[in-house]
Amino acid sequence: MKEFKDKVAVITGAASGIGRGLAERCAQEGMKVVLADIEEPALLQTQKELQSTGVEVLAVRTDVSKASDVEALAQKTLDTFGATHLLFNNAGVSAGSSIWESTLADWEWIIGVNLWGVIHGLRTFVPIMLDQDTECHIVNTASIAGLTTGLSLYHVTKHAVVVLSEQLYHSLVHMNAKVKASVLCPGFVKSQIMYSERNRPVELQNETAHRPLTPEEEAMVQYMRQAVQDGMSPQQAADYVFQAIREERFYIFTHPEYNAAVQQRMEDILQQRNPSTPF
Ligand code: NAI
Repeated sequence: MKEFKDKVAVITGAASGIGRGLAERCAQEGMKVVLADIEEPALLQTQKELQSTGVEVLAVRTDVSKASDVEALAQKTLDTFGATHLLFNNAGVSAGSSIWESTLADWEWIIGVNLWGVIHGLRTFVPIMLDQDTECHIVNTASIAGLTTGLSLYHVTKHAVVVLSEQLYHSLVHMNAKVKASVLCPGFVKSQIMYSERNRPVELQNETAHRPLTPEEEAMVQYMRQAVQDGMSPQQAADYVFQAIREERFYIFTHPEYNAAVQQRMEDILQQRNPSTPF
């Protein structure tokens, strides 16, 4: 896609961080913007602020882990704007501890949002886009954690989003479709991701608290919080994304300093070495 003016963009996780940066950028490009998010006050605030700049904005409270919510989002988008040209499957959370200490609720929540959220987005919107037979683009937000070795449930979900996106890419190329696809693999971006628990549904809360963190684990959490706080601005991340959409580029990297970690993992695999220690 090269022309964005008057086209329709749908962004999940649009009320904060990277999603909000993408929404602002879509508005600047002259698009009609559909904001989807589970956090209603932040969603309505984002809608209000974008509308005050004269942009046409629809806000739909959506839990991306629920197929019915994503289907309702698509229907409201079509009822209001008649089409969808740009889809950002962006909503995501961070949760859990080690593989065996994370609860079933931790696993269900993070897989529900980070992986099922993208699957629901694709199952719902790809047929709509193919039927339109117009230039469209889909960007799934994974992470550099989707390409590197790691220690978290988050890594598991993000690797899945990379592979899912690659399969989407191949299927669309095979069909010679006008719909293009990309996967966004950022490093640290300033956002509220380290405070994801704020949006955890009641039914997936843990009944008992996790054990206290060890000093090493506590230090890692503090490091991550600081790194996100000091991270790239969502506006700059959105610049990288729009450049890639214009170039029809699949892999979107924002932090070249992590290329070495990606290469390390690939080389460990090819040389059948044991995985290098993350960080
Ligand atoms: P954020 O917490 O600032 O924004 C995420 C948004 O998703 C929030 O507005 C939240 O309300 C929404 N959300 C959470 N659960 C939802 C659900 N079930 N349905 C709909 N919306 C839901 O975090 P950030 O960082 O902007 O996250 C956006 C994406 O970027 C995520 O997929 C995250 O994994 C990814 N990412 C973030 C990085 C960072 O350093 N901030 C690095 C790499 C990837």
